[in-house]
Amino acid sequence: MGWLMEALLVASVLLSLGFAVIESAPESALVTELSGFNGSLPSKHYAGYVAIDKEGRKNLWYYFVESERNVSGDPVVLWLNGGPGCSSMDGFIYEHGPFNFEKTKTKAARLHLNRYSWSKVSNIIYLDSPVGVGYSYSKDKSDYTANDTQTAYDSHAFLIEWLKMFPEFQSNPFYISGESYAGVYVPTLASEVVKGHLYNYRFYKNVTMPVINFKGYLVGNGVTDPVFDGNALVPFAHGMGLISNELYEETKAVCKGDYHKKPDRSIECAELLRKVSADVSLLNIYNILEPCFHETSVSAFDMGSLPPSFLELGKTERPLPVRKRMFGRAWPLGTVVRPGILPSWPQILAGSSLSCMDDRVATTWLNDPAVRKAVHAKEESEIGRWELCTKKVAYTHDAGSMIEFHRNLTLSGYRALIFSGDHDMCVPYTGSEAWTKSMGYKVVDEWRPWMSNNQVAGFTQGYANNLTFLTIKGSGHTVPEYKPHEALDSIPVF
Ligand SMILES: *[C@@H]1O[C@H](CO)[C@@H](O)[C@H](O)[C@H]1NC(C)=O
Ligand SMILES: *[C@@H]1O[C@H](CO)[C@@H](O)[C@H](O)[C@H]1NC(C)=O
Ligand SMILES: *[C@@H]1O[C@H](CO)[C@@H](O)[C@H](O)[C@H]1NC(C)=O
Ligand SMILES: *[C@@H]1O[C@H](CO)[C@@H](O)[C@H](O)[C@H]1NC(C)=O
Ligand SMILES: *[C@@H]1O[C@H](CO)[C@@H](O)[C@H](O)[C@H]1NC(C)=O
Ligand SMILES: *[C@@H]1O[C@H](CO)[C@@H](O)[C@H](O)[C@H]1NC(C)=O
Repeated sequence: MGWLMEALLVASVLLSLGFAVIESAPESALVTELSGFNGSLPSKHYAGYVAIDKEGRKNLWYYFVESERNVSGDPVVLWLNGGPGCSSMDGFIYEHGPFNFEKTKTKAARLHLNRYSWSKVSNIIYLDSPVGVGYSYSKDKSDYTANDTQTAYDSHAFLIEWLKMFPEFQSNPFYISGESYAGVYVPTLASEVVKGHLYNYRFYKNVTMPVINFKGYLVGNGVTDPVFDGNALVPFAHGMGLISNELYEETKAVCKGDYHKKPDRSIECAELLRKVSADVSLLNIYNILEPCFHETSVSAFDMGSLPPSFLELGKTERPLPVRKRMFGRAWPLGTVVRPGILPSWPQILAGSSLSCMDDRVATTWLNDPAVRKAVHAKEESEIGRWELCTKKVAYTHDAGSMIEFHRNLTLSGYRALIFSGDHDMCVPYTGSEAWTKSMGYKVVDEWRPWMSNNQVAGFTQGYANNLTFLTIKGSGHTVPEYKPHEALDSIPVF
């Protein structure tokens, strides 16, 4: 026993001095069994909490899937869903995670391996951020007041702590990715990583800080800038044949090509924009080609409070349908993200029960006590139910336009892939195309089709400084959900 006591003593002395005890991927975080999945996992999965402060107050939860190809050589990719307030398990369950979730009659999901999982080519971390989102929590509820700046600091601290837990991944190329409101999370976090300064430094004293081998980032249908995003809808609606040529020409002339909300907008311009909105308002804004979901039991629900397009969202004939819901992806039509306090999705829907959407697979599976245990999440009695998008977090958009962030990052040599599902009306490709062009970089790869599976999968334009704009043809807001094969093929940085 003596040697053991001594070893423990030495370890605790080292720990109290703040030295990291070098270890490899923690066995305790391994995910070994998942409800609904009978096969064997094609690669190692880990999940659990990372405390990002000394007191263990703020705890960010992650799910990590090792690459199924080359663990030591493939990049590590951080994935972030938006909201703000939405869990990145959205991406795991509905987009590019290792499983396809099949709904069964008993409502228990059956899990099949996803042949287009991004774990085919990368080691991927799904992070619930900021605290209060998904399974992430803080012991102090005042931490549920968040903003872009704080979220970037915290996610950066998470990455440092995570790399200390998984030191074998410190040398892999590292990428940050996300979609929708993560159009803000990704560049702000990337900027913190590049600065390399940790704000809550107390926690990290006398520990060799891991270096993040940061190479670049990916943003899909990302919120970027109120002017570019606000100007995107009218040309999109015109190009897609949703408004008449006459209305387009008149709106363009009267509004002088400036459609984002401005205090000095003329009454004539506002009236024309109302016409544009009326023409497109019944569409599924996340994919104008898809019908809308309409659940039959909507009793306890004030239908009048919802835009009509929400009611039928996601209705589809497909056997494994795209998600039947609109919740949590981005903003209703015309509510461009502006600086200031952002309403949460549940607030936008004014406390109504969310009958128009169907996230049952995710919500049921992630609240199954067996699943929570398997993924090392706290029990529901301790931190509440897992929700796709939460209203727990009071969120302020304080980082402003992302364009300067993109400029600094790309001029510093980091690669950027800005991709757009071209049938998304929520953050339309026209805005992303326009802001990438506005950077003024030389075109090095002129607009051309790109191929996937021997078919034109979309179009791309390459700029100097490793900035690439790319569309995915026929896809809605959540590209890997609508076009999983193309999404996997579209990631040239891999
Ligand atoms: C960290 O190192 C500095 C300088 O080596 C030392 O003064 C300080 O006491 C150390 N702090 C801790 C917490 O060990
Ligand atoms: C995996 O990647 C490493 C680092 O790039 C490389 O040395 C190794 O050959 C690769 N292994 C395989 C099986 O491709
Ligand atoms: C897993 O195995 C059990 C027992 O053999 C079976 O009842 C169940 O249907 C299987 N599930 C899947 C997803 O194959
Ligand atoms: C955002 O968070 C940071 C860090 O906590 C804080 O210093 C700042 O005042 C906040 N800004 C706004 C506008 O809320
Ligand atoms: C961009 O870089 C400039 C020059 O280093 C710096 O002053 C500015 O704060 C940076 N902006 C952002 C958003 O990172
Ligand atoms: C673009 O990225 C490639 C691969 O990482 C790199 O070799 C090249 O130097 C980068 N180009 C610029 C202009 O940063």
